[in-house]
Amino acid sequence: MLNKEIRPIQWSDNSLYLLDQTLLPHSETMIQLKTWPETVDAIKDMRVRGAPALGVTAGYAMALAAMELNQCKEGFQQFISKLTEISAKIHAARPTAVNIRWAITRQLQVANKCKDELEASNELLKEAQKMEREDVEINRCIGEHGRNLISYGNILTHCNTGALATAGYGTALGVVRASWENGNKIHVFHTETRPFLQGARLTAWELARLGIPSTMIVDGAAGLFMNEKTIQHVIVGADRIAANGDTANKIGTYSLAVLANENSIPFYVAAPISTIDLTIATGGGIPIEERPADEVTHLGEIRTAAPDTKVRNPSFDITPARYITAFITENGVIRQPFETTIPATI
Ligand code: MRU
Repeated sequence: MLNKEIRPIQWSDNSLYLLDQTLLPHSETMIQLKTWPETVDAIKDMRVRGAPALGVTAGYAMALAAMELNQCKEGFQQFISKLTEISAKIHAARPTAVNIRWAITRQLQVANKCKDELEASNELLKEAQKMEREDVEINRCIGEHGRNLISYGNILTHCNTGALATAGYGTALGVVRASWENGNKIHVFHTETRPFLQGARLTAWELARLGIPSTMIVDGAAGLFMNEKTIQHVIVGADRIAANGDTANKIGTYSLAVLANENSIPFYVAAPISTIDLTIATGGGIPIEERPADEVTHLGEIRTAAPDTKVRNPSFDITPARYITAFITENGVIRQPFETTIPATI
């Protein structure tokens, strides 16, 4: 079904098709979604995940909602008011990635410029398809800007930031890919990424498909490999970047950044400009999603924790801007001091 180019989000036959990431790497199954509530459930259940992929999926969820509301024939004002209500439900599906808010805001702006429901439902579909195309182009651009920053040695990454986490190509893993395709001799170290195992299940699968040499480590081994000078660069993605550069990303990113700083290893964050949220001054204002306890107490269906073990399962953490060497975006590389360079670049 898939060649080297992974396209996890596709539109066809009036339906959204998602590559079900909960089934990878065992099965490459596209699921068909015909309604916006099914799409919201797919987001909550992590069948699609990764900030840019969530943005594009939210764009399609809005298009599905508009098509459904177009059938109701209740007048354009009612259409806009119901679409706005639905957008809040899509927004609430996963709170940390700002890309969902970015996509629904863009879609509401498109709807508000239309003259009636039919035009709006057509335009929202076109806009979602545009978001999908743009995302792949943006990621390729990020790759070009970043590939010379990680041109040799062992590169550590966390979670999954590849084609699966986007509409295609990837952000941090896109930079790795661009460096590899440029002929650089690199080797990727990636974490398992407890508890959802995005590294073990998804990043390992993508790197193997791309033929990029890689080694998986448990999350807790990163310090050892940095301290013994095995790692030359760290590169991760982002779910939301505050105006001062504080960055929310997969739980464990903060620890990697502190360890990189302690060991004088450059720490890069690759993300599209749409991940920057200038409405939030510092990382303290970024909402952190807390996921169900059974992601931690169980491995699949098998319980691994002792009965009645109390669990906290925050899915993201905040890396203070001072630990970040540079952001790699489609507009170029942003270096310190972020308070001035971020607004100047976007
Ligand atoms: O919980 P997930 O799998 O959606 O978390 C994904 C991450 O933390 C990624 O690093 C981030 O979204 C950037 S993806 C290009």
